[in-house]
Amino acid sequence: MELLDYDIIVLGSGIAGLTSAIHASRESGGKKSIALVSKLHVMRSHSVAAEGGISGVLYPDTDNDSEKLHAYDTIKGSDYLADQDAVEILVKGAPEEIKFFDHIGVPWNRREGGKISQRAFGGMSIPRTAFAADKTGFFMMRALYDELLTYDNVEVFNERFATKLVVEKNRADGVIAFNIENGNFEAFRAGETIIATGGASRMYGFTTNSYSNTGDGTAMAYRAGIALKDMEFVQFHPTALIPSGILITEAARGEGGYLKNSNGARFMIDYAKSKMELAPRDIVSRAIISEINAGRGFTDEDSGLEYVHLDLRHLGSSKIDEKLPMIKEMTIKMLRLDPSTDEIPVRPAAHFTMGGIHTNIDGAALNQSEKPIIGLWAVGECACVSIHGANRLGSNSLSQCSVWGRRVGTIAGRWHKDSATQKSSFMEIAENEEKSILEVIDSEGDVNPYEIRDSMHRIMDKYMYVYRNTNGMNVARNELAKLKTKLKDIYVQDRGRLYNTNLREVLEIMNLLDLAQVTVECAIRRRESRGAHVVLEYPKRDDKHWLKHTLAYMSGNKVKVAYIPVKIRGWKPEERRY
Ligand code: FUM
Repeated sequence: MELLDYDIIVLGSGIAGLTSAIHASRESGGKKSIALVSKLHVMRSHSVAAEGGISGVLYPDTDNDSEKLHAYDTIKGSDYLADQDAVEILVKGAPEEIKFFDHIGVPWNRREGGKISQRAFGGMSIPRTAFAADKTGFFMMRALYDELLTYDNVEVFNERFATKLVVEKNRADGVIAFNIENGNFEAFRAGETIIATGGASRMYGFTTNSYSNTGDGTAMAYRAGIALKDMEFVQFHPTALIPSGILITEAARGEGGYLKNSNGARFMIDYAKSKMELAPRDIVSRAIISEINAGRGFTDEDSGLEYVHLDLRHLGSSKIDEKLPMIKEMTIKMLRLDPSTDEIPVRPAAHFTMGGIHTNIDGAALNQSEKPIIGLWAVGECACVSIHGANRLGSNSLSQCSVWGRRVGTIAGRWHKDSATQKSSFMEIAENEEKSILEVIDSEGDVNPYEIRDSMHRIMDKYMYVYRNTNGMNVARNELAKLKTKLKDIYVQDRGRLYNTNLREVLEIMNLLDLAQVTVECAIRRRESRGAHVVLEYPKRDDKHWLKHTLAYMSGNKVKVAYIPVKIRGWKPEERRY
């Protein structure tokens, strides 16, 4: 097996990963060697699919906005589960990031006079989402990738699927990965590892996420004994296209779109009178499902999925062409519907993992005693800092990826006296890992992994969706446990080494199953409704007992759960009204 020694490994090539690598490179003055390791080609990372924009206060003097207001919106949106010190860092850092992207070439939409345009997003008091039409993620990724290629000390390793994070004696030493192209294993050793592998919404069947969002880094961290925080909170984006789940950006409502039920009524009046379609996502998603449950939805005959309508017709085609061109392109391509003349069928889909690897405000992954693991950070959707709490506000995630990409990259780029690796056991661990993965390829079982994946999707879509109940969550727990026991009898149809995407998918399914189990275990225990976690038997938020973060650790085959307090600063929990 090839041993590759670097100073820093960045695992993942989305906005969080690229930003981390760039700032680590800059901070080290080009001196630290950095490996960017990704299972994809950079421009296939899920960040490319981000549509609506990035939040940040750009013009406080003229726009009547402030960082305090951004923080308040975020904390209220989080249903008071966000750590307020982390939110303060987010809102302070976000404006600089939007300007950074301006400098590296993102073509922000602009106002007359040249200022960057900002559009309205759910739960925000003021329009503060900067955007590049409805392809913001694509433009940010393109600019970052161009920028990254100018740094000689960063080497990009595409199509490397990492299977193990090596953590020994509270120190991270790197990752073991296989090269998808030739099937060879490679041991990436480094004193500093940054995990930036994105979310895990692919544990659901109906999702806005790319096929690649399988929570690999989060699952590896969990198996390495690191806590996952607040995994019960999964965001359902209100408007995913029927039947594919493709994202119809919230910007469609930010630009003035309406949600309508089968009576043609704008039903949000009954759920969020002042914000209407621009209430936070948890509230809008619940409103849509409540309408459907009350018989005021539509049914797609082929898929059986029930939905409501998103109406953009009154915006007119020139506004749609200027601000939402991709939405138009997609609805025409996928459904032959033109949003300037037709309503769009939508329903909530799994969109964002609010929980993730438990980190402190510097992005350092924490051990079971709440102390940083030496040389290990997590950034972006795979991390839980926590700024989103129980419900993320739209467009805060691109800010999170950029702010913490810079923060963590800058910290890692400095020289640390204790960042040497533990060389002795690393290769032994790597060889054992290779053996165990080869055993998966060679296994003689008869269980079809794709049946396991489909069952997991059915379970999560049915029992762990917008409204949950105790009985359903217990069913999910038992059914997932059965699926896990079947894993040992799985077969990998492709036994070759070259481009064995079959093996990669089996390993992804294993990762997702671990994370689905954690999600369910944390959800069953939280006996209240907060943000995106709504349990019918406990319909109210219960600050007395549940104003706390959930931590989940792997304990053999079981999930061990603990709790830590939420960090409250100036914003005391109050009732959320919109
Ligand atoms: O609707 C959207 O454009 C999604 C944005 C986000 O998740 O932040």
